[in-house]
Amino acid sequence: MSGSTAVKIDARPCRQSCQAFSVEHIRKDFPILNTLVRGKPLVYLDNAATTQKPQAVIDAINHYYTAQNANVHRGVHHLSQVATCLYDDARQKIAAFLNATVECEIIFTRGTTESINLVAQSYGRQTIHEGDEIIISGMEHHSNIVPWQILCQQTGAKLRVIPFDDDGNLIMDEFDRMLNPRTKMVAVVHVSNALGTVNPIQEITAKAHAVGARVLVDGAQSTPHTAIDLKALDCDFFACSGHKMYGPTGIGILYGRAELLDAMPPYQSGGDMILSVTFDKTIYGRLPSKFEAGTPHIEGAIALGAAVDYLNAAGMETIHRHEQDLLQYATDAVETVPGLHIMGRAREKAGVLAFTMDAAHPHDVGQILDEEGVAVRAGHHCAQPVMQRFGVPATTRASFGMYNNRNDVDALVAALHKVNKVFA
Ligand code: ALA
Repeated sequence: MSGSTAVKIDARPCRQSCQAFSVEHIRKDFPILNTLVRGKPLVYLDNAATTQKPQAVIDAINHYYTAQNANVHRGVHHLSQVATCLYDDARQKIAAFLNATVECEIIFTRGTTESINLVAQSYGRQTIHEGDEIIISGMEHHSNIVPWQILCQQTGAKLRVIPFDDDGNLIMDEFDRMLNPRTKMVAVVHVSNALGTVNPIQEITAKAHAVGARVLVDGAQSTPHTAIDLKALDCDFFACSGHKMYGPTGIGILYGRAELLDAMPPYQSGGDMILSVTFDKTIYGRLPSKFEAGTPHIEGAIALGAAVDYLNAAGMETIHRHEQDLLQYATDAVETVPGLHIMGRAREKAGVLAFTMDAAHPHDVGQILDEEGVAVRAGHHCAQPVMQRFGVPATTRASFGMYNNRNDVDALVAALHKVNKVFA
């Protein structure tokens, strides 16, 4: 692995909390959940858009600017060393959380979108050529469609799309038929933000690798809900966002296999990504610096490290079980609402309950829910092809986080009955 700083990750965090999971205890850690909206307690069910932050994450940001702020990798002075240590520690925590092999495989980006654009423009421009094929799925977020469309326009490669059935399961036979030696990249979402489908990543990866293709996984919606094991998923690239996993906005992760990242050209250039610069020639820095030009989002990385500590303390398997129980409870409960149609009934789902109502347009549903203090997202969820597949302009989407409880679901259902009443 030339040019990489190879620090082996051997300590995996605890996956299952040692303490009993108490959602009421967890809720106390999130100050915003005490907010009143129009005089009613906030019921926050828009976690797929962004999650709320525990006090530990807020404190990490506050403490950084109160006592630790300096630029990283640049100064010999005390504060710069403190900030550098914290920034590097955060990378190590995230590498262990995702079960990467070495920590230099973790690149800090602005979020999932930037991570995917980085791979499309750096790896893609270097390795994908006219006549090659890129496979995505029909349930991708726009951020895992448009970067590949642009790459296809730039290179003459062809974009192919795995369809999904009426329940929201990928049609794997179609995927099998699409794969061929021209397939160079398979870019798929782990958990669909519009349907909640959990896709069979290990199967997709094994099949893609068998024809020599690389695999990128959009993990924006899976990292908050389930333990991620990159070694088991065996994908080549994995992208996720800090703000969807109880960390700050503006910080995200690109994981890439070290040998691939090593061979890729920089995505952006400038300070902190070089070994040496003359007017004749620049020698790029090692991983991960090669992909982190400029002053990074230092407090974002540190606070994302704090979010990872928080998730580890709760235990990802415990969070997963809690949310699966809540999703089942919510699915059963909303089905009692007349004229409501759930969109997305995949065999395996996580965190998302999307639906339409006969009585009202999703935006009107969202507005009435808001009057009751219930925050959901209404719209196409940046997944317009999913809406086109079902022939609807939009859906209403309730999405769950670790702090949601059955009272939240009951408030949602009561507000949905009110929608029917208002539009009767
Ligand atoms: N991608 C985010 C969502 O699904 C913003 O709401």
